[in-house]
Amino acid sequence: MKIMHDAKSAVGFGIVGCGMIADFHAQALCSIEGVHLVGVTDVNFAGAQIFAEKHGVLAYKSYEDMLKDDAIHAVCICTPSGYHAELAKSALLAGKHVAVEKPIAMTVSEADTVIDAAKQSGKLLTVISQLRFSKDVIRLKDAVQSGKLGQIRFCNLSMKYWREESYYAGSSWKGSRLLDGGVLMNQGIHGIDLLHYVIGGVTVLSSVTDRMYHKIEAPDTALALLRYDCGALGTLEATTAAFPGFDLNLEIIGEKGYAVFTQERLTSLVIDGSEQITAVAAPKLGTASDPAAVGWQNHALQFENFVSAIRGEATLAVRGEDGREAVRLISDIYGEHV
Ligand SMILES: NC(=O)c1ccc[n+]([C@@H]2O[C@H](COP(=O)([O-])OP(=O)(O)OC[C@H]3O[C@@H](n4cnc5c(N)ncnc54)[C@H](O)[C@@H]3O)[C@@H](O)[C@H]2O)c1
Repeated sequence: MKIMHDAKSAVGFGIVGCGMIADFHAQALCSIEGVHLVGVTDVNFAGAQIFAEKHGVLAYKSYEDMLKDDAIHAVCICTPSGYHAELAKSALLAGKHVAVEKPIAMTVSEADTVIDAAKQSGKLLTVISQLRFSKDVIRLKDAVQSGKLGQIRFCNLSMKYWREESYYAGSSWKGSRLLDGGVLMNQGIHGIDLLHYVIGGVTVLSSVTDRMYHKIEAPDTALALLRYDCGALGTLEATTAAFPGFDLNLEIIGEKGYAVFTQERLTSLVIDGSEQITAVAAPKLGTASDPAAVGWQNHALQFENFVSAIRGEATLAVRGEDGREAVRLISDIYGEHV
């Protein structure tokens, strides 16, 4: 049930970085009662103005101006990934709550400084991980954590995506080591976050990275062998060089059954030989080949939780520490290769 709040007590949001994902943030925020998107900013001020006009909000000349505005209680960080940590810290230390897009930071030590800034300021920090709010992910997690699948033995995650050359060539930051971080920091992080969220602690046994096709600084391909704290073994494959792009596929096999999660759907859940999934629509091609095929509804669910936590009415579902864990696993897979 949605709780209605009057305009006075609305939580005011600002967005920094007015590119592709910012539009999803704006749509998601505007769908929530008791939230007011106040304004936006971007290093490209003309871009911020166009975005602001489209959504009927203010365009601030600088990030500093936005942070000085008392009407802004929370900031969404939607810039290239390499800027997330610094911008998140500035907002937290200016007394704003922060929802930072994935990844929280490019290194574990940088992520720690953001988490410390949140502790110092007493403000909330969430890292966007919208898949965690999908009903099918919640059902998958329940099947694993409740023990319905029994002891988990194997977990295989495949993220064989395709990005056209123009995806990298048309961007000033995609494919760079410091601002993008390659296939795991950018595309693969959603699946990586699921491993930790659904199954639990995970250690990298061995890994390899490569630039299989794209002429970029960061790896476009990474493979890893994994061992989970629960005893399971697993593999991970991630690439943006697999034409024409295949849906994310996660197979979890336990002693009593198995689950298959394809793109955003639980397509099979078999417990003691009996299929638990009744109607399965064929999964449509999503971000496997189109980075903009994200949808804003799961972002809205995450923002609903974030806003409720700001109001003291809910526990924050995704914390800075969760974002840090994804970066830790990616850094361990990249190891010395990057
Ligand atoms: N959650 C998801 O599913 C999802 C999907 C896509 C992108 N993302 C994340 O969102 C972030 C942005 O990706 P995008 O595809 O929207 O990028 P984009 O290139 O479309 O937009 C980035 C915007 O940030 C602006 N910018 C650059 N540096 C800035 C700075 N220092 N201060 C203010 N503005 C700055 C640019 O001018 C641009 O308008 C990335 O970190 C990416 O990982 C998340």
